[in-house]
This record gives sequence, C-alpha cells and structure tokens, in this order.
Amino acid sequence: MKILVAGGAGYIGTHTCVSLLQSGYEVVVVDSLVNSRIECVERVQEITGKSVEFIESDIRDRKSLNAIFSKNDIDAVINFAGYKAVGDSVKNPLDYYDNNLNCAIALLEAMSRFNVKVMVFSSSAAVYGEPAELPISEEARTEPESPYGRSKLFIEEMLRDVWHADNSWKVAILRYFNPVGAHPSGLIGEQPNGTPDNLMPVIAKVAQSELQKLNIFGGDYETLDGTAVRDYIHVMDLAGGHSKAIQKLGKSKKGRVLTINLGTGKGYSVLEILKTFEEVSGRKIPFDIVNRRAGDVACSYADPALAKAEINWNAEYGVYDMCKDAWNWQLQHANSSRIENN
Ligand code: UD1
Repeated sequence: MKILVAGGAGYIGTHTCVSLLQSGYEVVVVDSLVNSRIECVERVQEITGKSVEFIESDIRDRKSLNAIFSKNDIDAVINFAGYKAVGDSVKNPLDYYDNNLNCAIALLEAMSRFNVKVMVFSSSAAVYGEPAELPISEEARTEPESPYGRSKLFIEEMLRDVWHADNSWKVAILRYFNPVGAHPSGLIGEQPNGTPDNLMPVIAKVAQSELQKLNIFGGDYETLDGTAVRDYIHVMDLAGGHSKAIQKLGKSKKGRVLTINLGTGKGYSVLEILKTFEEVSGRKIPFDIVNRRAGDVACSYADPALAKAEINWNAEYGVYDMCKDAWNWQLQHANSSRIENN
C-alpha cells in the first residue's frame, strides 16, 4: 500500500513515516518545507533503510497534487499539513484558516478526482477547549479557544460532511494530546522555529543552557502541586496510532468516520515533568513560577479507551522515556538548531 503523507517532513509527520515504513507501507511525502527541513526526510530513510519519494510543494498547489496522484498509485492520505502555533494563530487567524483549511480542501478534491477515499487527519485536543469533565472523551463538547483549534474543528466537520455526501469515504480523525519526545535514535525530533513555546523544547533548551530558565505559567492551579497538568504522549506512540488507523480503515468493509483521542490517559504536572527531565539529564533546571498563561487550562488528559477498542492502540512509552528521548535529541542537534535559528 502506498500512503501520501502531506506535511510529512515535520515533527509528527517524520515519526509517522518511520512507523509506516517499518509496518511495510510505501511512503510519498509532499511538504512545502515552510516549517521543516529536507534533512529530516533523509534521516527517516537512514533510520528505516527504506526510500521515501519526496516532493517539495505547497499542498494548495492543485497542479502539483494532480501530478503526484497521476504518477503514484496512492491508496490513502495522511494530512499533517498545517500551521500549529496556538499563540501565533490568535495574532494571525487568517493565515491559519487559509493554510489549514485550503490544504485540507485541496487534498480532498484531489482524492475525489483520483477516487482515493481513505484519509487520516491530524487533529488536536485543542478542539475541546476548556474540559467540562475529566478524562476527556471523544463525546466531550468541542469549544476550541484559538483559531488553531477552530481550524482543526472546521476540517473535522468538513470531513464528516464529505462522508455524509458519499458514505464510501473511510476517515480517521486523530485528536492528539501533548506530543513530546523524539525518535530514540536522536536523528529526528521537534525543531521549533525561533524560541519555542511548548514545555518540553523549552525545558530541553534550559537544560542545555540555551535558555536561562523555565518560566512556569501558574503555581496556583487546583492540582497536586499547583502547576498545570497535561497528557504528554511520546511522538513514537502517536506515530504508531497513525499506522494502526490506516490498517483499521483498510480492513473496514464500509466507509465511516472514526474520531479518536490519542493520549496516555495519565496527567503530569509541569513540576513532575521538570523533575523527570532533571533526572534523565543530570542537569539542574532553574525555574521561576510566574503568572498563568492566557488560555491555559488547569488540567487536561484523555480517555484513551476508544483508541484501544477501535484501532487496538494504547500508549507504551512513559514520561521517563519521553524526557530521555527529548534530551537525546537536544544533545545531538542543539548545535545545528542554534546555527539555523540565528
Ligand atoms: C498546546 C496546544 C495543543 C498542542 C500542544 C503541542 C491548546 C490549548 N493546546 O498545548 O493543541 O498539541 O500545544 O503543540 O491549544 N508551560 C510552562 N512554561 C513554558 C511552556 C509551557 O509552564 O515555557 C506549561 C503550560 O502552561 C502548560 C504546560 O506547560 O501547562 C504544557 O504547555 P505546552 O507544551 O505549551 O502545551 P499546551 O498549551 O498544553
């Protein structure tokens, strides 16, 4: 089976390509490289010993998509293409709606034209917004609090409408909780442009003295230690979820839309993550507790039961491995990212 991975040169995309190749799928990657680098695709080949066909193109470029579908016998598409910085989406909402929605539309149009009706979509727990209850199940209300989260929800709705119009579509919508870590080889990982906003890359850079200290956003939440709690999930577990979703859709006789949380079901506080990172790195990580960050919730973690029931998937890596692999990646690539970011 040949899978087209849109946005496959990015953080979650590259790890998913590794998982797909190791599960025996052929992979074609299309990526604009706006937030990723060609070396990452080369490293996917190095890790797996398998080749990946790579096309540098904006997904919204219809001509280029047509050429890809004409040349390759594509069986399914995984869509990672999109901007993903929550804060940036608040400042530049139209960029997010233009890019994220139009990439999805262009892909769905091309798929319809070439009669490819299997799609896995990279969604986010950001679609839930402030959780009304915990753990968060797929049935929970969806009230995203940022244009980023809304762009994900709009695409989800679009996919459901496409299925309503033609029930033969097989769609999996995967809602990620907090992806962290890196491939254990240290060859691929998260490489945010500029100064990172997310917890794990910030901690890794503080541990390596690239940043002076960690600002912990809020120490007065109603949690065990006062810091906010999240469901961190190792990116390799997340990647495996995509292969399982593709397998499940492939086996399904009828079309359907599966909407599934990918999380561990366990929550860890910022301080717990910090302590674990200190343990794996052997470094002291200086921090200050500062004001809460606008838009943050106290506590978020998944109900992962449906993923087990539907695609036979559950997370296997714990927080120790998440921190260990994030640190390994930081050690191997800190210098190169420092040069690139300057
Ligand atoms: C956000 C997005 C989520 C996305 C994830 C990873 C929302 C609501 N959440 O999650 O969709 O999948 O990023 O890209 O849209 N923290 C600090 N100091 C820092 C950085 C973070 O204390 O310097 C804290 C935050 O307050 C939070 C926790 O660490 O409590 C995790 O933050 P972060 O990694 O940014 O992820 P989320 O905001 O949970």
